[in-house]
Amino acid sequence: MMSDAALHERINTEQSLFINGRWSESASGRRFPVFNPATGQVVAHVSDGDAADARRAVDAAYAAFPQWSRLPAYRRGVMLRQAAALMYERRDELARTLTLEMGKPIREARGEISYAASFLEWFAGEGERAYGDIIPPMAPGKRHLVLKQPVGVVAAITPWNFPAAMVTRKVAPALAAGCTVVLKPAEQTPLTAMALMDIFAEAGVPPGVINLVTTNDPAAVADAWLSDHRVRKITFTGSTEVGKLLMRKAADQVKRVSLELGGHAPVIVFDDADVDKAVRGTMASKFRNSGQTCVCANRIYVQKGIYERFAEKFTAAVRNLRVADGLSEDAEVGPLVDEAALEKVTAHVEDAVARGAELLAGGRRVTEGELARGWFFLPTVLAGVRDDMRIMREETFGPVAPLIPFEHEAEAYERANDSPYGLAAYVFTENISRGIRAAERLEYGIIGLNDGTPSTAQVPFGGFKESGIGREGGPYGIHEFLEVKLVGLAVDEEPR
Ligand code: SIN
Repeated sequence: MMSDAALHERINTEQSLFINGRWSESASGRRFPVFNPATGQVVAHVSDGDAADARRAVDAAYAAFPQWSRLPAYRRGVMLRQAAALMYERRDELARTLTLEMGKPIREARGEISYAASFLEWFAGEGERAYGDIIPPMAPGKRHLVLKQPVGVVAAITPWNFPAAMVTRKVAPALAAGCTVVLKPAEQTPLTAMALMDIFAEAGVPPGVINLVTTNDPAAVADAWLSDHRVRKITFTGSTEVGKLLMRKAADQVKRVSLELGGHAPVIVFDDADVDKAVRGTMASKFRNSGQTCVCANRIYVQKGIYERFAEKFTAAVRNLRVADGLSEDAEVGPLVDEAALEKVTAHVEDAVARGAELLAGGRRVTEGELARGWFFLPTVLAGVRDDMRIMREETFGPVAPLIPFEHEAEAYERANDSPYGLAAYVFTENISRGIRAAERLEYGIIGLNDGTPSTAQVPFGGFKESGIGREGGPYGIHEFLEVKLVGLAVDEEPR
C-alpha cells in the first residue's frame, strides 16, 4: 500500500486540471486548499479553475466527440472495464485518498471504490445494449427505424459525499453512450476525481473524452458550461437549491438535465416488524457516511406498539458506534465534511432541544482529545420530536436520528409523504401486504423494504418531487445520455 508521504506527494499537485489528456494549472494560476475533515489540516493545494479553463475543457470534449461517439460501443466498453479493473487493483490507495479528503470511515471508502467501479462495469454492458427499435408501419411503403445516439458533450457536476461513486455513476453511462465529458468535482473533494482521471487515461480513454476542472468557484465554471451551446447536457448531484438554479439556467438553451437533489427520507417501522432487523436497517440507512447521503433516514416513524422496544435497542446501538478518524480501521462514524456541515447539524439539534425534544444519545460536537481538532459530531438520537422543528423539514446531513411515534398505517403514509422531497423511504414490516401497500403509497423514487441500503449499479436511483429529475443507474441511467432519433423510410414497391 502507498505510504502517506508518497500519497501526499502525488496528490499535492498544483496541476489538477485534466484537459485533453494533459495535467495543467488554471489560467489564473490561483490555487485552493483541500482539508482533512478529521484534523482540520490542509492535505493539498489544487488549481482553482475559472471560466476560461471551463471553456478549454469544452473545446477538448467537443473535438473528441466525433471519434469517440463513432467508436463501436464494444470498444468503449473494453476501456470502461479496464478502468474498473484498475480501480479494484488500487482500491486501498484510492480509498485512503477518499477518506483523507472527505473523512468517511476507511472500510466504507473501500466499499465506495468497489461501488464506483461497478458503475463502469455495468454501463460497459449497457452501452453494448443501447438498442434502437424497428416500429411496424401503418402505411404500405413506409418503414420506421428508431436510433439511439449520444447527446454530445456532457457537463457533470458531482458532490463531495461520494467522491468516487458519484463521478462514475455519471461518467460511466455518458462514456458508454458515446458522449464526452467535462467534470467538476466538489471543491471539498477534488483528489479522488484526479486519481480517477489517471485511471481513465491508463485504461486507454483517448485525450479529450473526459476532462476535469477543479475549482473553488463552482458558479463560474457551471455558468461557463451552461452558456456554451456545445454542452448539450448537465448532470448534477447536490442540493435542491442549486439544482433549481442550474435548471433555470439550462432552460435558456433547452439543455437536457438530470438532477439528483436533496432528500428527507422517512423510515416507517410497523408494529409487526422484526425489531432487530428494523434497528439494523435503520442504523445502516442513518449512519452510513456519518449521515451524509441524500438517502439517509431523516425521520424515523415508529408505531406505538413497538416504539419503546425499538427506541431502546436503537439507542443502545447508536451509543455503541465508534467515532474515530476515518483512517483508523475500526472507525464507524467519521467527521462531517466541513465546519459549515458541523454548524448546520448543531443548529438542527439545538433547535429541536430548545423546542422540547429529548436527547437519548449524543447531541453535541466532540470536544475531547484528538477528535476535537476535526469536525466530529456524536451520533445522536432525539425523542419527542415535532413537525415544527427544523430537523423535520430540512435535510440535516449528519448523524442525527429523530424518533416519532405514530398510531395508524394511513397516518404513517400521510406524514411520510408530507415533504417537498421524494427521494428515498424505508419500511420495516413482516406483513407482505402491508409492505406492498407502503411501497405503492409512498411518493418516493426509492423504497427500502426491510432494506436500509437499496442502491446498487443495476437499479434506478432518483427522486420524485423536488428531489430531482431523471434516473441514474440501471438500464434507465444510460437513456439520460441518449437522444432518440426517428429514421422514416419510404420504400418503393417491388417491381412486377
Ligand atoms: C447519494 O447520497 O447521493 C448517493 C447514495 C447512494 O448511492 O446510495
